[in-house]
Amino acid sequence: MSDEIIDPRIQTLREKKAQAKLGGGLERIQAQHGKGKLTARERLELLLDKGSFRELDVFVTHDCHEFDLDRRQVLGDGVVTGYGTIDGRLVYVYSQDFTVFGGSVSKRHAEKICKVMDMAMQNGAPVIGLNDSGGARIQEGVFSLAGYAEIFFRNVMASGVVPQISVIMGPCAGGAVYSPAITDFIIMVKDTSYMFVTGPDVVRTVTHEEVTFDELGGAFVHASKSGVAHFAAENEEDALFLVQQLVSYLPGNNLEDPPVQPTGDDPLREDEALDTLVPDSPTKPYDMKEVIRRVVDQGRFLEVHEHWAMNIVVGFARLGGRPVGVVAQQPAVLAGVLDVDASQKAARFVRFCDAFNVPLIVFEDVPGFMPGLNQEHGGIIRHGAKLLYAFAEATVPKLTVIVRKAYGGAYCVMNPRHIGADLVLAWPSAEIAVMGPEGAVNVIFRRELAQAPDPVARREELVQQYRERFANPYVAASAGYIDDVIEPRETRPRLINALEMLQNKRAELPPKKHGNIPL
Ligand code: HXC
Repeated sequence: MSDEIIDPRIQTLREKKAQAKLGGGLERIQAQHGKGKLTARERLELLLDKGSFRELDVFVTHDCHEFDLDRRQVLGDGVVTGYGTIDGRLVYVYSQDFTVFGGSVSKRHAEKICKVMDMAMQNGAPVIGLNDSGGARIQEGVFSLAGYAEIFFRNVMASGVVPQISVIMGPCAGGAVYSPAITDFIIMVKDTSYMFVTGPDVVRTVTHEEVTFDELGGAFVHASKSGVAHFAAENEEDALFLVQQLVSYLPGNNLEDPPVQPTGDDPLREDEALDTLVPDSPTKPYDMKEVIRRVVDQGRFLEVHEHWAMNIVVGFARLGGRPVGVVAQQPAVLAGVLDVDASQKAARFVRFCDAFNVPLIVFEDVPGFMPGLNQEHGGIIRHGAKLLYAFAEATVPKLTVIVRKAYGGAYCVMNPRHIGADLVLAWPSAEIAVMGPEGAVNVIFRRELAQAPDPVARREELVQQYRERFANPYVAASAGYIDDVIEPRETRPRLINALEMLQNKRAELPPKKHGNIPL
């Protein structure tokens, strides 16, 4: 150790910073670790490039005098804010510190978050919020609510301008849920995080239902039932790794293109296995994720909403190094039918991609919309319309590959040329029709079949005729609705070529304040 004499003012500064680093103190840090949770600062260290974090507002404290709170001041006031880099790219961050007043949001705490949000919007970089909070700081009353509302307002203003990612790493209850809800992606951590508008006690009182925190609003529930969470991470490290992966596909803001990264996968690579992947029988399922993995760079696919509405698959991948958003039916789940949840899931994803200049790739195998009382009463008309709307208004490059079925209204919804697809390719297994051959024959030949001497044989004959006429890509191709019928093995090179062809695409919507998507 040198005997360097330190200026007392510098000494004070050092002490203050060291004190701020301890947040609510060693005991509470231990309690946090005891719950299997990291501290606010440890999380930022894992998330950001080593040494890149620059903290802001470390000296901010609350200004509340109620309930003796003026005697309890902690530097930073329960949230660590600032900026840093992920893989060299700028991001703004806030990380709530549960060891300080349970991470609860005071007016000043909210102002710190608002400051980084404002800076993110001005400088065009994503905002990543690590949430771990008991909600509004109860002692502050309306001042805390005002702070929350200021955050919500900025969440809305930033929507579509910079990507916003929320990681839920502890409690997130009451009105507090509405900040993450407005952001683009929610990642929850299994076992240690929950989100709900009203907790188990209130639920018990009002509806007499007995539920645990986890059953009501745990990571698994929101990732598989409500669709509130886009990802359910195994643990905190996993959650932060997911943020890094997500950011790697996204531009800093809506005026930038997403980052192109060479992946070492040959753009001309063909895959023979695709030629035999779709079963001969049109009713037999197969795994569409296998198709996706065989087409995209290095088979890497970051699936979003993996466990919710599994009849549709959405997520990010790269083609020739360029990020793309993939939307695909999953014939292995409910035959890939479009229902309420699938429509909402895909519509929101399509709008995200369009907002941030991520080209869309559709792999289509859709037997139609899901029939049933549940679906009709659940508003499939309204929700299905969202997907149609989202595809139609998207101006990013839009490519469709019809893999097998493209039936009825679902054909019109799933990014056909008629609503703006830039290129539609079909595999020879494609079937494009108003409905499946059996259904079609039942309707148009009902009278003939009723009078036929051998209705079963006649029916089979008519189904066969219908299939030959319509259950192929060539009628649609003869009208120019399909740009080309390709061998499945060629899919990857053809899509990469199309993305290159479309890289300077210009498309504009008619001037308007905003549309009126059927919410
Ligand atoms: C002030 C709070 C607080 C809050 C927790 N604390 N929540 N202080 N305002 N909202 C404090 C506790 O008093 C405690 O301080 C410390 O944080 C840790 O809390 P514990 O209860 O010891 O921790 P734990 O057992 O893990 O329980 C966590 C919890 C619980 C489930 C979050 O603290 C809780 O129920 N808090 C209240 C949640 C709530 O009702 N919030 C308002 C929701 S409405 P000490 O000093 O004793 O250790 C809301 C609306 C938002 O947020 C409105 C937006 C429009």
